[in-house]
Order: sequence, then structure tokens, then C-alpha cells
Amino acid sequence: MVLIEQLLSKDEVQTFRQHLSQVPWLDGKGTAMGMSAAVKDNAQADPENDTVRQLANQLLARYGEHPKLVSAVLPQKIFPPCFNRYGQGETYGLHVDAAVMRMPRSPDVMRSDMSMTLFLSEPDEYEGGELLIKTEFGEQKVKPRAGDAVTYPSGSLHMVTPVTSGVRLAAITWMQSLVPDTPMREILFELDQNIQQLSANDTVSREQLDSLHHVYHNLIRKNAVF
Ligand code: NI
Repeated sequence: MVLIEQLLSKDEVQTFRQHLSQVPWLDGKGTAMGMSAAVKDNAQADPENDTVRQLANQLLARYGEHPKLVSAVLPQKIFPPCFNRYGQGETYGLHVDAAVMRMPRSPDVMRSDMSMTLFLSEPDEYEGGELLIKTEFGEQKVKPRAGDAVTYPSGSLHMVTPVTSGVRLAAITWMQSLVPDTPMREILFELDQNIQQLSANDTVSREQLDSLHHVYHNLIRKNAVF
């Protein structure tokens, strides 16, 4: 699980919320695939609405160019983000996300390797509503600031705990990675983050950095799947 801080600034979050307060909202069960409908209880901004589509496209552009997100996910395809809202008593029980998704308004399908939640409400605006992810090391619960995003493997069991007061707004998406193997993607992320840090360190020679870049890109070449 990777936290991406301030993917949107506070001002951008306010602009998104302003627009989202004026669009039509639908029952979230309508978009749940298969089994997950039984545990899904929230509302979703109408994905066919022009304003909603524009907001989703703005996020798509941002996601595709964010260095930490690109490093962690190596995205090849990104599903247009969906905006959801949980009011009092609403929840999304334990589930795994669908493995294959049809891209909207396109014959294209994609595999979901990584899921991402972008939080649009501040943690003190609602009670409950944590994103809970089951990992091999136990449960992780997160409730970051508005504008922060959390990305995690789509195949991990996860849930949104019941909101007991207030409103939780978020945008969710799914991404197909160039590197479908999750452990390999995690190794590449760790390597890239270290190379980034070493680049800022004067004691590392140009040759050493070039060599590490070669290692990184050759590993991508060996593991990328199109
Ligand atoms: Ni999910």
C-alpha cells in the first residue's frame, strides 16, 4: 500500500467538491460488479454527466504524470475515476475488485492490478469511513487528508468501514500496470525511490547513477507486459 500525499491541493479539492455538489448522484449498487453489489451501500456521481466526465478526465491527466504514482504503479491503462459518497450508516463491505473491466464507451478491456482511492473529505468531517485493507501482515486502516491518495493491489481484500456521522467523498480508480506481477512491481518501486534519493546526493558519481538507471530499465524491459 502506497500513500501519495497531496495528489490534489486543498484548492483543487474545494473546486472538485463545488462541482460535485451540483451533479446527479446514483445508487452505487448499480455499478457494483457481481457479488460486490450485496455489500456496497453508497452513492456514485453519474458517470455519464458532462461535468463528472470532465472532472474524471482532469484526474486521469494528473494521475498519468504524478512521479510517485507512476513509480509505484507503472500504469498502462487507467479507468476513468468514479466519484463516490458515503453518508451516515453507509459502508462497502469486504470485497476484492473485479479482475477485468470494460473501459467506458470503448470496446477496450483492462486488467485491474492496482486500485486507488483519492480522498476528497478531511478526516475530521466524518466518523468511521476508513479504508481497511487486509495484507499478509494483518489489517491496515487508513484515513488520510483530503487530496491524499492511497493505492493498493486490486486483488487484496478491502472495505470501507461504516460512516457513523458526516459525509465521506472520494474518487476511486483502477489501473493496469506494465508490470502485472505485484512483488516485482514493489521491488521496482523501491529501487526507483532509492535512485531518486541518490540523485540528490552529491557523493554519488554520475557513472554509478547511470548504472543504477540501466539496472532499473533493464528490469522493466524484462518484466513489462503489453
Ligand atoms: Ni474495492
